[in-house]
Amino acid sequence: MKTKLKSLAIELTNNCNFKCSFCWANKSPRPKGFMSKELFDKIITEAQKLGVTNICLNFAGESTIHPEFEWFCNRVKGISKSINIITNGSNLIKVGKTLIDNNINMTISINGMGNNYEKFCGYPYQNTKNNVSYLLNLRKSKVPTVKIYHHIWQGETQEDIDKYIIEWSNKADGLYFTPSIDNMEWKHGVESFTFVKQRLCRFPFYYMAILWDGSISPCCRDIGAELAFGNVNKNTMAEIFSGDVYNKFREMSNAHKFEDDMLCSRCKLWEYIPTTIKI
Ligand SMILES: C[S@@+](CC[C@H](N)C(=O)[O-])C[C@H]1O[C@@H](n2cnc3c(N)ncnc32)[C@H](O)[C@@H]1O
Ligand code: SF4
Ligand code: SF4
Repeated sequence: MKTKLKSLAIELTNNCNFKCSFCWANKSPRPKGFMSKELFDKIITEAQKLGVTNICLNFAGESTIHPEFEWFCNRVKGISKSINIITNGSNLIKVGKTLIDNNINMTISINGMGNNYEKFCGYPYQNTKNNVSYLLNLRKSKVPTVKIYHHIWQGETQEDIDKYIIEWSNKADGLYFTPSIDNMEWKHGVESFTFVKQRLCRFPFYYMAILWDGSISPCCRDIGAELAFGNVNKNTMAEIFSGDVYNKFREMSNAHKFEDDMLCSRCKLWEYIPTTIKI
């Protein structure tokens, strides 16, 4: 498979203002912190040079709570074909204008409705609805995009999903559903998903996540950074991506033979990828 770094996730912080009960990121014992402006600047300079086409401004955590969040958005403007963020939506009144002005596509995670939503993430549902309306009123065109995303957790019924669709369809540019991840497996409570079989896991060939402290993970499912190797404070992204450790990891992925204690050896996510339901 062709190897080229196309997609970069940058973790501005792994701190979060929510404590969603299903969240794998919150369960991770990784030390918490905030990325420095200097490190972000270094990453963006190199990403532009390498022609990275897709940048996501989050990994674990909630990026909009970074005290320098707006500076990061201004710095990244225009350097890549597609710049995106996934957010819990709680700070849209504060940072919405900056996101729109810098053409950053938004996916807003709303994993339930009403009391269910509040039970899972501890934030008032009505505030989320107000924040999304505020953002959509502020945006004067369909650029950047605003999508609503819900990962369907076990215990949620088809009836819950039907109500959710009535609530959220036609409010933004798209409504998306995927199953939940639990213990490196796909889990969900409804029948609607189909799965596409893959020959090998593709992440190591085009993707890199840079965590707040500069360390690198080759997989967007590795939210606890169990696979992390290399650090952009010591080497360039190009050196790490084409280095021996990454290449060895690609060989293991190609053969699907991993050391027993590696995350990949207990991962059931890569072989059958769910078809995302778009409404
Ligand atoms: C880790 S969060 C980080 C961004 C932001 N804090 C948010 O919640 O949108 C990224 C995405 O992962 C989703 N997520 C969290 N736990 C999950 C799980 N167990 N299975 C599937 N998706 C999950 C969240 O709903 C969110 O859409
Ligand atoms: S808001 Fe995002 S990062 Fe924070 S706990 Fe919820 S899913 Fe996890
Ligand atoms: S096998 Fe699983 S854990 Fe390993 S890189 Fe692929 S998706 Fe990530």
